[in-house]
Amino acid sequence: MIKKILKKIIYKLSIIASKNRWLTVFYYTINTKGFQHEQHNVLRGVIKNKTDKNNIANFRRAIHRIEKGLITQPLKPIFAESYILETVLTYKRLLNDDCDKTTLLWGKGILIQYFEIVEKTDIITKAYSEFLKLIEFETSNLPSTYFANERVRSKITIDDFFELNKQRRSIRYYQNKEVPREIVEKAIKIALQSPSACNRQPFSFRVIDDPSMLRTAASLPMGATTFSDNIPMMVFIIGDLSSYFDERDKHIIYIDASLAAMNFILALEVQGLSSCIINWSDIPKRNKRLKKFLKLEDWEQCVMSISIGYALPECGVASSMKKDVETVTKYN
Ligand SMILES: Cc1cc2nc3c(=O)[nH]c(=O)nc-3n(C[C@H](O)[C@H](O)[C@H](O)COP(=O)(O)O)c2cc1C
Repeated sequence: MIKKILKKIIYKLSIIASKNRWLTVFYYTINTKGFQHEQHNVLRGVIKNKTDKNNIANFRRAIHRIEKGLITQPLKPIFAESYILETVLTYKRLLNDDCDKTTLLWGKGILIQYFEIVEKTDIITKAYSEFLKLIEFETSNLPSTYFANERVRSKITIDDFFELNKQRRSIRYYQNKEVPREIVEKAIKIALQSPSACNRQPFSFRVIDDPSMLRTAASLPMGATTFSDNIPMMVFIIGDLSSYFDERDKHIIYIDASLAAMNFILALEVQGLSSCIINWSDIPKRNKRLKKFLKLEDWEQCVMSISIGYALPECGVASSMKKDVETVTKYN
């Protein structure tokens, strides 16, 4: 009874608070269920970003910016001067760090290309001499920018692509059959082809396929209660909020992870696996449980979870009628 009355009061307060920005801030300060968890994680991420000299996302962003400079038309004789020295020094530190080798390879290739063409100011010369101490000039097979007409051409037709998208429906009931990790890794490889802001790729795929962990994993999000006991694999896509030096980018983990997730589930589909995205609600108690389960850092935030398995042939599929093009499209 008291709970009901309290709920009513909070609802009335929320209506008043919604009329003014400062009242809204006050409302969410006293109603601690709202954004406190997110605010804390975002701030922990920003501080981690600014204090971690080996931040891989910052390095990837810098290399991305240099690549954009390399393809700018017309090419500027001098660019990236304000951050090139720091980028080379980060590259040096990362060489001794346990970071992923493709990032280092990408950095090396693009920095070589940059120093080949950029006009050498004092700062750029200093950065170049630091860089020369770090690398052997083995330039074959290194990544570099290229021309649009050199891209690989896919043979998929628009009809094939539409059919694949029609084939993919949320499937919630699975055969009691192990999901091969190679298939999932192939799907992750494809997911990693997705665009991401400044090519940071600020997410990881946490795959649970140990039968002793699956029950708990499936019970952590709220949306799988009716089918949690038959899921052979759960994936949690975890965003890394320490990828950003400013709060303004706090939503990018959700965008980048979702773009990757879409390609991930389509890639599973073409390999015969079905899936269902399961919502991750921003509920403090559940965040805490997941944090403990996956041993997450404060700046790591779940974006979504996904159940994966071979569809039970006779399981029901919701028709999930889609909107039509006219409804969602507006020109100019
Ligand atoms: C962000 C997101 C959260 C979802 N959460 C759940 C969920 O918690 N439980 C569930 O059974 N399905 C969930 N779904 C699946 C949707 O219900 C499903 O995508 C939608 O009804 C359309 O059906 P389709 O995927 O078959 O096209 C979610 C989908 C998305 C994209």
